[in-house]
Parts: sequence; structure tokens; C-alpha cells
Amino acid sequence: MIQRALQKIFSAPVAPPTEEDIAGLSDVPLFSMNGIAISETEIVFSGLALPPGGDYSAVEFKSDDDVVFRTEYPLPTPGAKDYYWYWPGAEQCGFRITIDKARSHSADDLFRFYIDFDGRKNAPLERERTALFVPRTAELFENFPALEALQRVQRFDNPQCVAARGVGDAFRMTSIAAHHGWTRDGNVLDWGAGHGRVARHISRFAPQTRVKGVDIDPQNIAWAAEHLPSIDFSVGPLMPPTAYESGSFSLIYGISVMTHLEPRVQKAWLAEIHRILKPGGLALLTFSGDAAVAFISRWLDAGWIDTYLKTGVGPLLPSSDLVGVIDTPDYYKNVHQNLQRTVETCEPFLDVLGAHECMFGYQDLVILQRPLQDDGA
Ligand SMILES: C[S@@+](CC[C@H](N)C(=O)[O-])C[C@H]1O[C@@H](n2cnc3c(N)ncnc32)[C@H](O)[C@@H]1O
Repeated sequence: MIQRALQKIFSAPVAPPTEEDIAGLSDVPLFSMNGIAISETEIVFSGLALPPGGDYSAVEFKSDDDVVFRTEYPLPTPGAKDYYWYWPGAEQCGFRITIDKARSHSADDLFRFYIDFDGRKNAPLERERTALFVPRTAELFENFPALEALQRVQRFDNPQCVAARGVGDAFRMTSIAAHHGWTRDGNVLDWGAGHGRVARHISRFAPQTRVKGVDIDPQNIAWAAEHLPSIDFSVGPLMPPTAYESGSFSLIYGISVMTHLEPRVQKAWLAEIHRILKPGGLALLTFSGDAAVAFISRWLDAGWIDTYLKTGVGPLLPSSDLVGVIDTPDYYKNVHQNLQRTVETCEPFLDVLGAHECMFGYQDLVILQRPLQDDGA
């Protein structure tokens, strides 16, 4: 499915990059959950986990819950080599985990797993990065928009994985923010909320918050406002300002929003995020960097890669995702910048507390703060 989706976005490169161009771009092992099946007796979930250095014995699946499970890894996954073509061992990076439902217990309706990639035990926030949530019952998969609206936002995913990954991302956002001093309360803004994939789960991890979601996609916002009434959803402008008062939010997060905005627009939004954050408030934003470039590298020209490697910023790539949805579809792009360039972009607007590669799948994360003493715009 990913292969087909990428073929739709990109035409075949005239001069494809070589393996040497891409090898070494990013060595953070990625993973994904691609299927979940729940029956009376067991839950089976499957996905991909890239073996560090091609060594399958360096990957271990673990859970802190009282879960009885069987792991099958590595499994042949010929399709993975189409996009992880540069990664040693990708042709066998499939996993399948079978949970014995009757003999397994968790604190709530989810089983929490994480992946122990050998060599990364001390990497910051690694437990958060690799967390996977598996629902005990299929209820979590209900209440989603039609597939077309869903895939406009989560291009590569099936509805079940959208649901399960939404919980994981809500956990990641709230845990990482708490790790940086956020007290799990106040107003939270999901900037670029889509159909509420993540916003709907924030209260599970931070019950004292009031969650708002804003997006430029009126169709997804209309769906979310109707189907997720506990969250305050609204349609926002392509360019700031928003209607929010200054100092409104203790936490703003944006998953894969900056990844679609050209640098001038990114800066305008960083200024707005600064304005609407409380002093001391946090903004957690994802960007597409080295691993994202590696992921799509088979569809890029060597010249594109060369520019990215030399400047840290790739030439803008088009996106047709919002054609027919917003009035100026050209606004929405695919934007790639390495972590250093991302930090340089954010620094003039907010304090940079942290910057991590591949914290949200292949996307990087920056953790930003409006200074506590800062009472002006
Ligand atoms: C790749 S989707 C991710 C959606 C959501 N964050 C998630 O992870 O499920 C990017 C979203 O950002 C929205 N978006 C882009 N620019 C925006 C802006 N300036 N303000 C609000 N939303 C924006 C798009 O409409 C789209 O829904």
C-alpha cells in the first residue's frame, strides 16, 4: 500500500540516488504497526521493526503489563525493501505478536508494549518513542470517518492502525511534555488536528485538560466536531492569526503539520504559536528530516538528495492531498529539513528544550517553550 501511495506522489526519478547517498543518512531503527486482529481468545498484531545494523537479535519486544505473548521475528517482508531499500535486513523485518487474552492483564483496556533496540537503551525518551498500544477490544476502532477522509491525513494506514497509533501518539505527546515540566492540565491545542486521531485520546493521559483542535480542512473538522463532542474543534486560517487569545495554551502540539509548510509559513506559525502559548507553555512539533528523506529516497533524484545533504533543506515537493479541500491547495507541500535546520528555524521564536530524531515514526520532534518571564508578544 505504501509503495502504491508513494508512486502516486512521485514520478520515477531520472537519476536515482545510490545506496551510498542514503546509507548513513539516519541510523535510528524505525518500526510500525500495520495490522491488528482481535478474537475471543487472542489478539494478533503485526508490523515492521528495522534491525539495528541488520542484526535481528538486537530487537526485543517487551511489555510492562502482565501480558502473556508470543513473538515471531524476523518474518519475511519483501515489500519493506521497496522503501527501506537502504536498510540492511529490511527484507525480513516483519514481526507478529500473539497475545493470550485470558491470561493477560493490564491497568485499562490497552496493552502497552515497547521495543528494545539494542544499543539505544540510554537514548533519551526511547521508551516513549517505541511505545505501541494494543486494544483489548475492537471498540477503539469505531467512530472514524470514511476511508477517503482518513487517508487524506494518514496516507499509508488502515483504520485499525490509525486508531491504535492515535493512542500511542497521545501517550507520546503527553509523556514527553510532562517530562519537560508540563503538569498535565490547562488548555491543550492540537494544531492540525485532522479528524481528531490524537486529540480524542489526550484526556486518557491528562484528564485535567481542556482539549481544542484546529485544522484548515473543513471536512475533517466538521466530522470531528460532530463525532467527538467533548473536544472543541474549529476550522483555522491558512495563515495566522488564529482567533485564540494570547497566552491561551499550556501545551500545543502539531503532528506532521510543519512537514507541509514552506519555511516562510513555518516562521509565521512559530510566531503565532509563541503568541498563543502561556509563558512557560510548551509546543511539541514534528518535522520531516533525515529518516523521512531516506524513506522516500527511492523516488527522489540524486540532485535533490545532493541539495538536501549540502544545505540541510530539500527542494519543496508538491502535495495534492488538499486539492478540492482548501481554496489554495498549493499552500500544502512536502517539506524536508534536517534537525539542525529545524532547530535554527525555531530558535528565534521559542526556547528549544530538545530535538530528537524519529520520535514520531520517521518524523523528528522539537520541544519548544515560551520563556516563563516572557510576557510580551
Ligand atoms: C498529515 S496531516 C496530520 C493530521 C494530524 N496531526 C494527525 O497526526 O493525525 C496534517 C494536517 O495539518 C493540517 N494543516 C496544515 N496546515 C495547517 C495550518 N496552518 N493550520 C491548521 N492545520 C493545518 C492539514 O489539513 C492536515 O489535516
